[in-house]
Amino acid sequence: MKLGVCWYPEQWPEHLWASDVQRMAALGLSFVRVGEFAWSRIEPELGRFEWEWLDRAVDLAHAAGLEVVMGTPTATPPKWLVDAHPEILAKGRDGQVRGFGSRRHYCFSSDVYLEQSRRITALMADRYGQHPAVVAWQTDNEYGCHDTVVSMSDAAKAAFRRWLAARYGSVKALNTAWGLAFWSQEYRSFDEVDAPFGTVTESHPAHRLDWQRFSSAMVERFNAAQVEILRAASPGRDIVHNFMGLFTEFDHYAVGRQLDVATWDSYPIGFLGQGPFTVADKARYLRTGHPDLTAFHHSLYRACGQGRWWVIEQQPGPVNWAAWNPAPAKGAVELWGWEAVAQGAERMSWFRWRQAPTGQEAMHAGLNRPDNQPAAAWPEVEALAAGLSQLGPLPPRGRSDVALIFDYDSVWAVRSQPQGRDQDALATAMAWHTAARRLGLSVDIVPPDADLAGYDLVLLPAQVFVDEGLARRLAESGATVLAGPRTGSKTRDFAIPAHLPPDGLKMLIDVTVARVESLPPGIVLPAGNAGQVTGWMEDVESGSQVETRLTLDDGRGLWFASARAHYLAGQVDDGLLRRVLTNVAVATGLQPRDLGPDVRVERLGNFNFLFNYGPVPVTIAHDLLIGQNPVLPAGVAIWRD
Ligand code: GAL
Repeated sequence: MKLGVCWYPEQWPEHLWASDVQRMAALGLSFVRVGEFAWSRIEPELGRFEWEWLDRAVDLAHAAGLEVVMGTPTATPPKWLVDAHPEILAKGRDGQVRGFGSRRHYCFSSDVYLEQSRRITALMADRYGQHPAVVAWQTDNEYGCHDTVVSMSDAAKAAFRRWLAARYGSVKALNTAWGLAFWSQEYRSFDEVDAPFGTVTESHPAHRLDWQRFSSAMVERFNAAQVEILRAASPGRDIVHNFMGLFTEFDHYAVGRQLDVATWDSYPIGFLGQGPFTVADKARYLRTGHPDLTAFHHSLYRACGQGRWWVIEQQPGPVNWAAWNPAPAKGAVELWGWEAVAQGAERMSWFRWRQAPTGQEAMHAGLNRPDNQPAAAWPEVEALAAGLSQLGPLPPRGRSDVALIFDYDSVWAVRSQPQGRDQDALATAMAWHTAARRLGLSVDIVPPDADLAGYDLVLLPAQVFVDEGLARRLAESGATVLAGPRTGSKTRDFAIPAHLPPDGLKMLIDVTVARVESLPPGIVLPAGNAGQVTGWMEDVESGSQVETRLTLDDGRGLWFASARAHYLAGQVDDGLLRRVLTNVAVATGLQPRDLGPDVRVERLGNFNFLFNYGPVPVTIAHDLLIGQNPVLPAGVAIWRD
């Protein structure tokens, strides 16, 4: 794994640059990411360019032996552009125009902005596309950050109408698909369809779902335009985008397919406070981040990059943007590095080289303090760099034990009609991922159209859409399937399937969901000593070939099993989920073992990694290549067998 850093020469006096790049190289870094917010410095006014400073910065990096990942600066349209074309601004769900003065203020549906984005991308590609230091391009920066995927500008409304017309063909088909006879919501033409915000009570759920799909398609369109230009002008370079954590507002698989590499921005402590975790877990993992959140995203973005992925921004210390911003535990920065290594990352770079003294992110740590002295993360980066050279070349990440299907469309579907306030398909997927990892199983998160052949076990924690294609691939994979409640609960038109849920999954297990209920917090449905259900429960009718393995105290079946598939009718507690998963995994020939809440293991070829996210030292019985025994809190152990 190559190490690097995000560098903002435009924000610092030029006399610092030469020593910056030399110190980077001495630290063991081999690349920088530059440029992604520098539009106003590159083009201070329309058509007036100042490239020379960036030329010098790139040349300096090159001379120091550093590779360059160049960002297109389109996340920050400058003031002159906004003033000349105020119509490029996005409009929030509240109808307010999102103004200049931070970043990401543009609307993905604006053709005017798309043209500007093409223009600046082409100019940058022309200037740096053949530069020997430039090894990759990052398109824009964090599509959707600060809630910017959805816009209800006039441009977005017009584009939505065109998108609907292409999808449904006729307005009659739209009326039928959405079921608009309900409450006299029928339209006479696509031009009458508005954004699904501002209605008296909730807007139509299929309307909201399609708006999300459309918004996602606009992100794809925007990205594709830059990719096309960069491919032509800068052949042989990787094209990447930096995705975010806990973020599902567009289909990352679709954008990922346009790229060579999926990258993401990993802020384990920043995300902890925002994640679906208990108050106790947020305290326990305050300074390490949750044991599975980072790995979940590593696995997800590995899928988005079709195997190729990087961490392009890594937390080096306290961030500025969470509600509270604690400092990492001693060792955590190094641990996060090894976690990425174990998951097969090709590169990792820290955000940022030096903490800025001014601006929105002045409180955000870097590898250097604002006075240019090494910050707390520095020795941990040194240690990671030394460890990596000690291990030498590492084998590629092979196929994991378990495939977990994660689907953006299903996340949006649950959000469009949750039927219970706290229902969230991302949180469900993360809970299942945690259950598997805590049992020592490795997990590949995969899209619903993935090739499933070769997996022994496939998990469907919250796969709302199970069409024939997915059902057939599940059946033909030979894998055992474990599916959770809500599986196959809607058609793509967002109707309840004609033969009721779980729709296509019935091909593998003969169950029918006759009724569902959601439950408020604090209500528990016990299943004897085995565990309990909270939040969601279904009444399931099962065929004669289906065994009921577990029943609620109230008599309703909870765990149904056929030869090849298992269906859970309720949202079970973590312990029960692990019990079911253990049972199913053992039956498929895997060897699950409970590692407890804090310890996680991964394998890369014959290298074994153990991570201690908890507060207690862990003793292990191996001769270590890296780390010490016992493994301290926030410590890592690596051994080979
Ligand atoms: C990311 C973003 C960076 C910086 C960083 C701070 O979301 O891409 O530009 O803002 O967060 O943690």
